[in-house]
Amino acid sequence: MPAKWTPESWRAKPALQLPDYRDGAALAEAEARLAQLPPLVFAGEARALKSGLAEVANGKAFLLQGGDCAESFAEFSADTIRDTFRVILQMSAALTYGAAMPIVKVGRIAGQFAKPRSAPTEKQGDEELPSYRGDIVNDIAFTAEAREPDPARMERAYSQAASALNLLRAFAGGGYADLHNVHRWNLGFVENSPQADKYRAMADRISEAIAFMEACGITPETAPQLKKTEFFTSHEALLLPYEQALARIDSTTGNWYATSAHFVWVGDRTRQPGGAHVEFLRGVKNPIGIKCGPSLATDELLDLIDILNPKNEPGRLTLICRYGADKVAEHLPALIRAVEHEGYKVVWSCDPMHGNTVKTETGFKTRPFERVLKEVENFFAVHRAEGTHAGGVHFEMTGKDVTECIGGAQAITAENLSDRYHTHCDPRLNASQALELAFMLAENIRKERDRSKAVA
Ligand code: PEP
Ligand code: CO
Repeated sequence: MPAKWTPESWRAKPALQLPDYRDGAALAEAEARLAQLPPLVFAGEARALKSGLAEVANGKAFLLQGGDCAESFAEFSADTIRDTFRVILQMSAALTYGAAMPIVKVGRIAGQFAKPRSAPTEKQGDEELPSYRGDIVNDIAFTAEAREPDPARMERAYSQAASALNLLRAFAGGGYADLHNVHRWNLGFVENSPQADKYRAMADRISEAIAFMEACGITPETAPQLKKTEFFTSHEALLLPYEQALARIDSTTGNWYATSAHFVWVGDRTRQPGGAHVEFLRGVKNPIGIKCGPSLATDELLDLIDILNPKNEPGRLTLICRYGADKVAEHLPALIRAVEHEGYKVVWSCDPMHGNTVKTETGFKTRPFERVLKEVENFFAVHRAEGTHAGGVHFEMTGKDVTECIGGAQAITAENLSDRYHTHCDPRLNASQALELAFMLAENIRKERDRSKAVA
């Protein structure tokens, strides 16, 4: 029998990557105030997402998860939220067509503030200061004052997440997400792309499908689902004092839920089976993710699945694989076979970002677009060979025209990176790179479907 879980049972376990708050009383007060605030999301919504993800686990839907590496207080604006939301919808429209399946849309947004770091301190010249851990913890400026963890930042993050969610709910339900709009934006992207010829055929086929539906009387007026969409939020459940303060009992079921987001995941650095982060996630009923990187042993993954999803409920667990383009084939097959052998139902998703980060000679962290693409291709190829469903993708992207990842149709070079390098943490795909990726992926999935139909 596992030991009893409570929202604070994680406190008895080793906790990596948590900030060292100097003022314990200020921390406790901030936690107490947060615990009084309304939940950001509702348990029923988290259950709806879990059902959607169960469809993905059963091979009948596809997961698209994406957004910022780290949201910041400085970059917060209606435009930033709108642009990210719009690109995710555009990617989703292309993927719906490619996969001929519902796309479950989850943003890394409205709460993706806390960051794990590879070192607890950062050195510049002779000065050594605590690392920046995301705006929910401290400030990015390199001064001792800015880097001091401040518990009041959790309340500012909560308030920013609440207003972001409010806008996202309005966008999702208020007409902005109308399929006709989304398709029009995609046509604009195709026309402006240096690779327009490659994508035009697909865009034309979607236009025809929409015209056909209209001719049959299926319009936003007769079918309101064309006017709105379902959109969920997610982030890494890293800052446990914040997550605990927002854990709530759902009055319908009596179960505990993390109400900071619909979906929360445990990062590659904090997923120790005996650690605090896994302990916290064990007791909340949300759909959750596990980041799987090269250091994850098969046995350890099986232990984690056993701890986090003892009843083997489809939709509860998403394995977010982030190996690096040239390591997928080496690591993924063994994990898939072990999971299949145990009969575990999971969503397999591909994060082609975190294993493909490199540093340029000029000191910028970047990701070559072709490596990102290659990792997705390799992930799909492994699943095809294993006969399992490549269920989703997980991107760091923004709707803005930043220059953080090199390559893509705009051919961003290492020299261009300084033009618009705005990220607070990892380099993100810009709007055009994200769409290019979605269109290519949609084409590949479509071709695969045609191939398997021909074989059947
Ligand atoms: C992230 O998703 O931003 C992240 C830090 O990922 P990982 O835990 O996979 O390194
Ligand atoms: Co990141």
